[in-house]
Amino acid sequence: MSEGAVVCVVGLGYIGLPTATILATTGSTVIGVDVSERTVEAVNAGRVPFVEPDLETVVAGVVAQGRLRAQVEMPEAEVYIVAVPTPFADDHDVDDSYVRQAAEAIAPRLRGGELIILESTSPPGLTERMADYVLAERADLTGDAGTRHSLYFAHCPERVLPGRIMAEIVENDRIIGGVSTEAAERARDLYATFCRGQLLLTDARTAELAKLAENSYRDVNIAFANELSIICDRLGIDVWELITLANHHPRVNILSPGPGVGGHCIAVDPWFIVAAAPEEARLIRSAREVNDAKPQFVVEKVMARAARFREPVIAALGIAFKADVDDLRESPSRAIVGQLADEMAHARLLVVEPHVEALPAELADRPNVEHRELQAAVAEADIVLVLVDHASFAAMDREALVDKVVIDTKGLWR
Ligand SMILES: NC(=O)c1ccc[n+]([C@@H]2O[C@H](COP(=O)([O-])OP(=O)(O)OC[C@H]3O[C@@H](n4cnc5c(N)ncnc54)[C@H](O)[C@@H]3O)[C@@H](O)[C@H]2O)c1
Repeated sequence: MSEGAVVCVVGLGYIGLPTATILATTGSTVIGVDVSERTVEAVNAGRVPFVEPDLETVVAGVVAQGRLRAQVEMPEAEVYIVAVPTPFADDHDVDDSYVRQAAEAIAPRLRGGELIILESTSPPGLTERMADYVLAERADLTGDAGTRHSLYFAHCPERVLPGRIMAEIVENDRIIGGVSTEAAERARDLYATFCRGQLLLTDARTAELAKLAENSYRDVNIAFANELSIICDRLGIDVWELITLANHHPRVNILSPGPGVGGHCIAVDPWFIVAAAPEEARLIRSAREVNDAKPQFVVEKVMARAARFREPVIAALGIAFKADVDDLRESPSRAIVGQLADEMAHARLLVVEPHVEALPAELADRPNVEHRELQAAVAEADIVLVLVDHASFAAMDREALVDKVVIDTKGLWR
């Protein structure tokens, strides 16, 4: 990358903002673009509009130094990194409208020679489609014989763990898939400015499927643990003890069961493989179905245990999709609480989620759901339902649980 080059990061969320920030610390001038005025204002004030440890201090520093600024308008830049959402549509195929909007906003700003990297998780072929969206607006930049050599497109999927993003963004190995070899090499030069992990070059489609395969691997293995937990429940066996014992085998490492699988990666990405190869992706589809069925199993368990109370009070601990984050997307615990509130109009649900200031509207609007502090909720509850293994729950004084019915989907207090 040439000296003084401007890098534009499009989408300042969990992935885009840390990427923009880390690039700014290595000396690049970075402009972050987001369609959300609120996000733009927060970043320009040196604030982070979501919870991610260690990020805010660095954002505040690079903004104060003038190395990072945010805006709604798309600027001219030498490099664009697109990190916008890629949710799935009703048919489980990708909703690529955010990528398309980003591509169409970038297109008029191009002069030729730019590198455009898609970091959003993508089904095979989306990086090439993004190139098509750009070139549909800018036929003048198509390059010789359609080789696209006047623009460089690459896919560099992100595999950071929320809660550890600032460490992992530097340390993790990265897969860099170019639509052309030169695009991959240019992208590698950019990531080399801040990544200490290996930079592994391939083509764009392989990079796209590699990311999906990683999350499907996790999903299939969690499905195995969740299926075991249901089998154990049927057979009256403690699944946690079972897994601990089985994992003493030197080549076995069974993961932990839970209330389902959430977040917008593991619960979403395998569907992109199913959509791309519906006949072939049989195990991957089954794993999704097993994990998606687990919340219903938990709901039925709670309802069965609550049957002996006339007006049960249920403390539901956690609605984030995993421990110690504020991210509620695709959260199975959030869905469980909603369904319990619907099916048990005679019950009160005291939801404890210390990582959010308010419950999402679909829960807050229900008359039998309240957002409460941990101690007060547990003290009042007949049933304590653990849905997320937040550190603050693990640290709780267990004396408070005496005389309570405890349903612990995470094995937190065993
Ligand atoms: N969060 C993770 O842990 C994680 C990990 C790996 C990969 N990913 C992938 O990274 C991508 C981004 O995920 P995220 O978690 O950062 O999402 P996010 O929702 O936190 O952030 C996306 C941001 O993009 C903005 N945006 C939407 N459309 C835009 C547009 N046209 N132009 C500019 N900004 C736009 C939104 O306002 C939002 O601020 C997704 O494809 C996701 O699957 C996420």
